[in-house]
Amino acid sequence: MSNRNISPSILSADFTNIKEQILAVESAGASRLHIDVMDGHFVPNLTFGPFIIKQIKALTNMHFETHLMIENPHKYLEEYIQAGSDTVIFHYEASRDIERDIKIIKDNDALAGLAINPDTNPEVLEKYMDKIDYILVMSVFPGFGGQSFIVETLKTMETLVKMRAGRDILIGVDGGVNLKTIRKVYETGIDITIVGSGIYKADNISTRFNELMNI
Ligand code: DX5
Ligand code: ZN
Repeated sequence: MSNRNISPSILSADFTNIKEQILAVESAGASRLHIDVMDGHFVPNLTFGPFIIKQIKALTNMHFETHLMIENPHKYLEEYIQAGSDTVIFHYEASRDIERDIKIIKDNDALAGLAINPDTNPEVLEKYMDKIDYILVMSVFPGFGGQSFIVETLKTMETLVKMRAGRDILIGVDGGVNLKTIRKVYETGIDITIVGSGIYKADNISTRFNELMNI
């Protein structure tokens, strides 16, 4: 049960009531919150700037994992850290200098995460394994909540758990995780499970969170 750690993605939350939506998952037991930043270039959608993170940071003590689905992430890393991100995740496919970007994040006292898309070979991460704190496996192509889980990515999760080989790296999965797919994700041995619509589109957030934790 130790690897059951759900990080709700607020992309699917009701933003007319965002304070209540955040406190609902915190009181249900979430210790992390997943914040999806999209720039309309790396992905065909546009979401939150640093000012939103700064405001919601004041509402909760949850660990903020900020998922940057943006081109040229190096331009914004410090801004998202200063706004309150505890872990900053940028995309392998978007960065022009991965080692530089990891260094910027760590020099600013945040944890460095690297995300890979479903069609990126996880072997490309081997050379960064001694530097990163977090790997995010996309189980959908990034850009939107509510998409279907790509089952082939389970293999990627298993491969990365093996590649980690005892190093202190958290591995997470992101996209299409819900009551139907989460059990297979838990079986891969990864640590963090991001769930967006699977929580926020449920009738009762707290009930659903607990169902997902105890399935
Ligand atoms: C997709 C985002 C995911 C998404 C997860 O680009 O990175 O975090 O919000 O939402 P669901 O769980 O609804 O797929
Ligand atoms: Zn995400």
